[in-house]
Amino acid sequence: MRGNEHLHSSPSHGYSLEPDSSAHRDLVIALIAIACVFFASAQLDLSEKFTHWALSHETLQLDEFPLVLFSAALVSIWFSRRRMREVMEQAHLRIAAERTSQQSQRMFKSLFDQGLCGNFVADFEGNILLCNSAFSSMCGRSEATLNLRQALGPQWDEYCTQLQQVGKIDIAELKVTRPDGAPWIVMARLTQVSDQAPTTDQSPTSDTPSPTTSGSNIHGFFADVTEQHLAERELAILFKENQSLARHAMRVQEEERRNIAREIHDEMGQYLTAIRLDVATLPKDKSAPHAAIALRISSHVEHIQQAVRGLIHKLRPTALDAHGLVEAVEQLVKDWKKQHPQVSFALSLDQSCQSMPEKTSIAAYRIVQESLTNIARHARAQHVSIKLMRTRGILADTLSIEIRDDGIGFNTYSPRAGFGVSGMRERIEAEGGVFTIQSQGKGVLVSASIPLQTALAVIQESI
Ligand SMILES: Nc1ncnc2c1ncn2[C@@H]1O[C@H](COP(=O)(O)OP(=O)(O)OP(=O)(O)O)[C@@H](O)[C@H]1O
Ligand SMILES: [Mg+2]
Repeated sequence: MRGNEHLHSSPSHGYSLEPDSSAHRDLVIALIAIACVFFASAQLDLSEKFTHWALSHETLQLDEFPLVLFSAALVSIWFSRRRMREVMEQAHLRIAAERTSQQSQRMFKSLFDQGLCGNFVADFEGNILLCNSAFSSMCGRSEATLNLRQALGPQWDEYCTQLQQVGKIDIAELKVTRPDGAPWIVMARLTQVSDQAPTTDQSPTSDTPSPTTSGSNIHGFFADVTEQHLAERELAILFKENQSLARHAMRVQEEERRNIAREIHDEMGQYLTAIRLDVATLPKDKSAPHAAIALRISSHVEHIQQAVRGLIHKLRPTALDAHGLVEAVEQLVKDWKKQHPQVSFALSLDQSCQSMPEKTSIAAYRIVQESLTNIARHARAQHVSIKLMRTRGILADTLSIEIRDDGIGFNTYSPRAGFGVSGMRERIEAEGGVFTIQSQGKGVLVSASIPLQTALAVIQESI
């Protein structure tokens, strides 16, 4: 290693070891010093004075002096070369450390600059000291004029106080007024970072907050959720509209069904009864030619009457109006069992579900009805259980409906062509309830819960 190598900063590699002009300068100084000593010695006759003095002290062994000087020169050369090596080793270590530090600086700079989050450093007055391009575009390229204290109002001071206490705060939704007045909603994290290097007992990642704001800044990370927030708000409005539309559609459908049922009953029912009565008035003479025809007419009319009764019952369950939900479900199951005698039933019908608000009863009844229809059509079940429960809550009671079968089940995630399941879901959600249908390999579980209007809710609504 050459002795005249020195630390140099180079733009591309940081520091490097290269000879430099100060070595020549040192050589010139050394030569001047030697010349000065020579002239001073010649002028003042120093060597003769020293020889004379040494001869007067014979014990000094002056003839050994050159050898001693020579050894001293060798030892000092050896020491200086060793020292130089140490210095060079340290210099190389420093260069390596410097390179690593520059690399990590470049890495962190890229992380800061290229992040999708808006990253910034601000002071406690709310001025933006440094920010990345994401933050810049988020705030409409107006970071130079953005002041967080002005943008957030008194909230900013609250956050600063919190930061001094806890060091880091996460804010799920922060509404910021941009300098151009555009709405800006962000999910934010603010941390207080001290400018001073961490001491040995305080690691750089330590969460210990600094008690004062002097010498510390706020590092902020903003994720823009404005679009998401607006979309969510729009979705919530649409969902509400959809719910009330569905509720209206169900009401209209039920009303229409009731009217059709009444019309069929009043119009068709009357005429069918009249036909049967007319047929009954015909002479009973079995040998008469019309007797067989009359008998057939009577049997056809009876058949149509039964079908009409079934149709009316499906359109408007009379038991629901007359006796309430529990009895209507019992009646429905009784009729269903007649057609499927091989299926066993377990009914658990809470008597407190008997008198429910009309719309709730109808929704619950239709769920049971469609579930039983599906079981008959698709399930090939041996056993079916139906549960109706009323759960009492502080703010609202809930009506829970459960229909379970042990049939073949189906994949609830695959697309379906029918409207039964989606109709059930719409009906329940229109009442503000929750509907689920589950099938894991075997059997199907249909469950729904509908919140019931409580006295408290009625009072609130009337206010
Ligand atoms: N209990 C069940 N057991 C087995 N499969 C079922 C059951 N309930 C529903 N499914 C399956 O889910 C599908 C969708 O049912 P959904 O009631 O929506 O329509 P659908 O009964 O086919 O027709 P519809 O519109 O007349 O009701 C059915 O085709 C059937 O494959
Ligand atoms: Mg169906």
